[in-house]
Amino acid sequence: MTKESQRALLEIQQAQTAFKLAILRAYLAPMLAKVARFGKPIMLIDGFAGTGASGTDQGSTAIMLEHARRGRYNVPVKVRAVERDFDHYAKLEALTEAARQGGADALAWHGMIEDHLFSLLRQATGHALFLFLDPYGAQIPFDCLAGALATLRGNRYPPTEVLLNVSAPLIFREFGIVGDEWTPSKTKRADLALGGVWWHDVARRLDSTADRVREVTEGYARRLCSATGMTWQTVPVFRHPRHDVPIYNLLYVTRSSDHGLATFIDAVGRARPDYLVAVEGEGDLTLFGDSGDWARGEAKRQQTATQPHIEENLRKIAARGDEFHPLSIPQEVYGNATGVATGTQVERALRTLVEAGELCLVNKKGSKHIEGVYARATRG
Ligand SMILES: C[S@@+](CC[C@H](N)C(=O)[O-])C[C@H]1O[C@@H](n2cnc3c(N)ncnc32)[C@H](O)[C@@H]1O
Repeated sequence: MTKESQRALLEIQQAQTAFKLAILRAYLAPMLAKVARFGKPIMLIDGFAGTGASGTDQGSTAIMLEHARRGRYNVPVKVRAVERDFDHYAKLEALTEAARQGGADALAWHGMIEDHLFSLLRQATGHALFLFLDPYGAQIPFDCLAGALATLRGNRYPPTEVLLNVSAPLIFREFGIVGDEWTPSKTKRADLALGGVWWHDVARRLDSTADRVREVTEGYARRLCSATGMTWQTVPVFRHPRHDVPIYNLLYVTRSSDHGLATFIDAVGRARPDYLVAVEGEGDLTLFGDSGDWARGEAKRQQTATQPHIEENLRKIAARGDEFHPLSIPQEVYGNATGVATGTQVERALRTLVEAGELCLVNKKGSKHIEGVYARATRG
């Protein structure tokens, strides 16, 4: 690989990392504000924490600490971080120590998240929980994660939200499938992470890598959710928007449609401009400079273009005749606009249909925001 292509690869990797961290930033503030209303303390767990930094920017634990400190919630927000590599852990410990000096309830552990998960979740009893699992490759063993969530976080309240990085290289390169080559002896770690050998057949049956990644990720999500009674949403993250095969999928798992799924889908849409700006920074999207202006404009244009699709989805839901709360069925409302649109497009679509006389709104919670809004067809 030439120096130039190495540099390009690094920068492209930064774009996909920038996206993940931007999603975390966009998600945490509204999630914390909504979940704090349940009146329970909140625990944020970073299971594959790294150093706390990402290049010169904040890493996931630093973002969690900042949100825990910055928000004025009526409940305590605690941060727990686990890291296997000792050098990374030493930096992480320095970061959490500084946060403790500033009054935060923050602790770092050296070790493997699979060895700490049950004990951390026991400490999280009575707390709302957000668990972030972001490995480079293999996820933690399926039985460990599914078992811990099913037994220690089996109830709807206090809420449990999980964000996982499900790596495509894990499924293919690292475990023996490159193109048509297939090395079953290498699949052991993937079998553990994915919860068995079910995925071998899926990978063999399908021809294209893009289909394999999608089916295996969705199969994993279905299994995890059937074992835990939760629901899910995946977001494919590409090294470049023009690629077919995601470098990883973010998998969001929750029992809540409102503060869970709707908040997450909105956060992905809000984070997307940062991703396009990072890709543009590589000079790879446009020849018009790297100020980020083009990418932000393009992201906005794409977001605005989703509104007719969302309007059509709302019409179909309203045609069923019942009153509905859009935030309770965000996957139906966003449909194919998931990953691009935000709550702003949903609000605008609702307003457009009301102005056209197709929908009427009932504001049940006295809020001027979408949170309290129910809708129904005007006629029917
Ligand atoms: C992708 S990096 C984490 C990046 C971090 N989440 C961020 O966004 O700033 C994955 C980290 O997980 C650590 N790691 C790998 N296996 C682990 C395990 N089983 N338990 C805890 N940490 C692990 C690695 O040493 C590495 O620092």
